Amino acid sequence: MDLISSTGPGAIWAQSLDRVIGDGASMPWHIPEDLAHFTRVTSGSPVVMGRRTWLSLPERFRPLPGRTNIVLTSADPAGFPGARTTSSLTDALRLAGEGGWVMGGGRVYADALPHLARVVVTEVDVELAGTPGPKVYAPELRAEEWREVQAEPAEGWLESAGGPRYRFRELVRA
Ligand SMILES: NC(=O)c1ccc[n+]([C@@H]2O[C@H](COP(=O)([O-])OP(=O)(O)OC[C@H]3O[C@@H](n4cnc5c(N)ncnc54)[C@H](OP(=O)(O)O)[C@@H]3O)[C@@H](O)[C@H]2O)c1
Repeated sequence: MDLISSTGPGAIWAQSLDRVIGDGASMPWHIPEDLAHFTRVTSGSPVVMGRRTWLSLPERFRPLPGRTNIVLTSADPAGFPGARTTSSLTDALRLAGEGGWVMGGGRVYADALPHLARVVVTEVDVELAGTPGPKVYAPELRAEEWREVQAEPAEGWLESAGGPRYRFRELVRA
């Protein structure tokens, strides 16, 4: 999906129909096409993530290449080689700038949302809230605050070779 809005900063996430994004340690699906979409959108831009999301990345992908990795944490920066760390969301968003992308997890999305201008969401055609185990949720995007500017496909779903059906959405502040 080519983005319509160029005004940032933004957030990017993938969620189930009932807004589940993970279990605290990993993501609940593997959709290679969505990982490619994430790379396309964020490449060349700073990314902001929480400590637990950093830890959820396979070690060989830390830091994410081609992007300034900014990790929110109160832990010793020495534990995050290749990343910039800060314990302040305001600092993280300032460092990331207009073109930056907040990339999780649940706590960072929720705290950052009021400061964001755009959100790129992958909707995954599964319901997970009722399944056993811990859950991390994406924040709710209220219709009076967020307006969809495009969806791909406009109707229906994209099929994944390796996972559930999915669709991309781009929303901006209403
Ligand atoms: N589906 C998706 O698109 C997607 C994307 C990303 C992540 N995820 C999933 O999300 C889950 C992780 O999310 P999470 O909510 O558990 O953790 P998280 O937001 O990744 O990290 C939480 C930690 O980050 C720091 N932090 C977060 N917000 C902060 C703030 N406003 N100010 C200062 N520090 C802050 C704190 O670190 P300290 O404790 O060190 O102070 C906090 O303990 C995983 O399951 C991951 O797979 C899913």
